[in-house]
Amino acid sequence: MTASPRTRLILMGAPGVGKGTQSNLLESRLGLLPISSGVIFRGEIEAQTDLGRLAQSYIQHGQLVPNGVTIEMMFKRLRSDEVRRHGFILDGFPRTVRQADALDELLLEMETPLTKVIELTLDDKVLMSRLSGRLGCTKCGEIYHSVTKPPKREGLCDRCNSPLFVRSDDKPEAIRERLNVFHKTIEPLRLFYQQRNLLVTLEAGEDPEELYHRIIDSLASHN
Ligand code: AP5
Repeated sequence: MTASPRTRLILMGAPGVGKGTQSNLLESRLGLLPISSGVIFRGEIEAQTDLGRLAQSYIQHGQLVPNGVTIEMMFKRLRSDEVRRHGFILDGFPRTVRQADALDELLLEMETPLTKVIELTLDDKVLMSRLSGRLGCTKCGEIYHSVTKPPKREGLCDRCNSPLFVRSDDKPEAIRERLNVFHKTIEPLRLFYQQRNLLVTLEAGEDPEELYHRIIDSLASHN
């Protein structure tokens, strides 16, 4: 199997490992639809909805938002014609076995099975430094880093000229808690997709371009 506009992927891995960065590359080059639970939550927070207020109370402390509301929110997005027609990249969902089980059932019902689950791995120290320097575009979602990928003009997006922002959960204390939560929850999820013969694990230390090509190569290989 090779990457195609109907490829359906999960990108899994620790905070800061590069899921959003790879998702943006897969969108711009393959036309896959990025569906990020974090981005959707941040949109709800910005719009000051009830869900946004609830999510914010967990996100600011680096904790997971409860399964029920997360699954409901993601299902609304996944049950669209756009998702049936195109391939997608799920970034940040599922994060628990309960979410993975629910997703399995939904994709079966929609007759849109997953192509692969790509797990990106990286040392916690590197993750810390990636997250502490991250900047994001308020409009187009492009991701920067103050040291390794600075914007050409300070504080402004190269692509759309909009202001850049620092995420409220990229503070040291919240980062530590996010990593802690990640290490406590990843193993059962890994096992879940290993048993379904969908899991590919890639070390994410190299530059985004090289990693992108390894992701594409891994789609062509059989488990
Ligand atoms: P979410 O938004 O999903 O955050 P996350 O999983 O913590 O991941 P990040 O977005 O922080 O990192 P990333 O892997 O996308 O890295 P990026 O590409 O930006 O979730 C936020 C919160 O929402 C959660 O904590 C939780 O509270 C809640 N939530 C979300 N989903 C949920 C769910 N399913 N259930 C319950 N709660 C949920 O890159 C990071 C930095 O590194 C950037 O500066 C980038 O430029 C740089 N970089 C990227 N790749 C490379 C590379 N290859 N080499 C060098 N630098 C790189």
